[in-house]
Amino acid sequence: MQRITIQSEPIDDQKPGTSGLRKKTRVFMGAHYLENFIEAIWQGIGGVAGKTLVLGGDGRYFNDRAAQVILRMAAASGARKIIVGQSALLSTPAASNLIRMRKTDGGIIMSASHNPGGADEDFGVKFNTPNGGPAPEDVTNRIFEATKSISSYEIIETQDVDLSKPGVTELAGMEIEIVDPVADYAALMRELFDFGAIRSLLASGFSIRFDAMHAVTGPYAKALLEGDLGASFGSVVNAVPLPDFGGGHPDPNPIWAKDLMDAMFGDDAPDFGAASDGDGDRNMVVGRGLYVTPSDSLAVLAANAHLAPGYAGGLKGVARSMPTSRALDRVAEAKGLDCYETPTGWKFFGNLLDAGKATLCGEESAGTGSDHVREKDGLWAVLLWLNILAARKQPVAEIMNEHWRTYGRNYYSRHDYEGVDANRAGGMMTVLRNSLAELPGKTFSGRTVEAADEFAYDDPIDGSRSEGQGIRIGFSDGSRAVFRLSGTGTVGATLRVYLETVETDPARMNRDAQEALGDVIAAAEAIAGIREHTGRSEPDVRT
Ligand code: G6P
Ligand code: ZN
Repeated sequence: MQRITIQSEPIDDQKPGTSGLRKKTRVFMGAHYLENFIEAIWQGIGGVAGKTLVLGGDGRYFNDRAAQVILRMAAASGARKIIVGQSALLSTPAASNLIRMRKTDGGIIMSASHNPGGADEDFGVKFNTPNGGPAPEDVTNRIFEATKSISSYEIIETQDVDLSKPGVTELAGMEIEIVDPVADYAALMRELFDFGAIRSLLASGFSIRFDAMHAVTGPYAKALLEGDLGASFGSVVNAVPLPDFGGGHPDPNPIWAKDLMDAMFGDDAPDFGAASDGDGDRNMVVGRGLYVTPSDSLAVLAANAHLAPGYAGGLKGVARSMPTSRALDRVAEAKGLDCYETPTGWKFFGNLLDAGKATLCGEESAGTGSDHVREKDGLWAVLLWLNILAARKQPVAEIMNEHWRTYGRNYYSRHDYEGVDANRAGGMMTVLRNSLAELPGKTFSGRTVEAADEFAYDDPIDGSRSEGQGIRIGFSDGSRAVFRLSGTGTVGATLRVYLETVETDPARMNRDAQEALGDVIAAAEAIAGIREHTGRSEPDVRT
């Protein structure tokens, strides 16, 4: 075993995006690529010497190899200890929990979240800070700066560390604690939710289907839903994490979780369906014959969270990302709660949660979570839903209909144009940005623009400002269109157009969302010229 210094040089595309550095797996496997980025993390956090970190990932292709490299580099640079999930597995929320519970100096999560896995697909690395949340921009900027001047890194030359069993071992003087990835997370869930009530609900014949999409939540869902809560064997499907997620796209939405949708809309549909993504932080909720949009799910959870023991004292406040529908705002207003609007990306919720300004937060991109960890949490959302269903003893559809009657319905849809030429997409945004001042007062497809701006966020806790966070067009009837380029893609640009309209007439609560949004969709096209700029006549995905 020998500590060696490897000469390297800067690699120029290592800028972390919305959620860490994501690239094609083969890029990460290229010479020095992973090593340079890890060295930049060490530099960006002021060195790893003497520090304790958590390490784990979603099990995708290269997860195991990357874990060994990171352990050897941490040991070579003098880290005190690494707490690593067995087989280098940890869901993102479980990693966040471990970082907090063990009061570590942060953690490294290996994941490209909902992007497909495999040698020809995606890989990613993300640093989380000691509060358990994704590193804020000052930290990721420091990491990026460091990538520009790497000249060497330290690593131990040795055999692989055996991560197959829990226990304590050692590498060149650095302690390695291998932990069961599920145990601590499961204990936290048992504290937050009324497992007795959920167990009774399931015992009464209420059927569920949880699709782990061959990704990391399989073992967690098996242990909690089928183990603790007694859901019938087989309720958790695609439960074994695979390096290529079974060739699928582990993104819980109606398109990629089509099997679940088919089951929930078919004969003999279970009472409740759910899915989560590659690393277990996203969720999707489906009732029998009814898909619940993430924005609606967030609003329902906010309205009913007090039914779970962990939130019985009420919420301190709520938060949503800017493109997320304003269904949450309606609940907040009715309940007298503060409601914060942040840029896209979970990291922006961290300060609000730390400061006790918000208890619950969520995003249209299928993320919901609370102050129990500092990441969004897929299984947590599923358990909170189950707790609410157990307490209210009503089907999902009835809960949704009551919700809309009480608070109004925000019809919502996101249209994605994927793999668009980056220059064309950027060009569209520039033209749109330059036209904002002239838009107010103009009418498009019967909708009059009331306000048009580019969203910038001033963090109320640390005073930092984040600009260029999406263009929003508000119409006088409360409808809205938001335009934003994705920060998580790995090829070309993905244009996201978020569309929303408000309905308060009880007779018009069950329309098709695309139809209800027809005018807003047409207005968005008229304002931005999406077809002309992207060369696309249709979105690739409509959520
Ligand atoms: C990741 C982050 C989310 C964010 C999403 C947006 O999943 O964890 O917090 O909402 O990316 O992705 P986008 O592709 O729209 O930038
Ligand atoms: Zn994810």
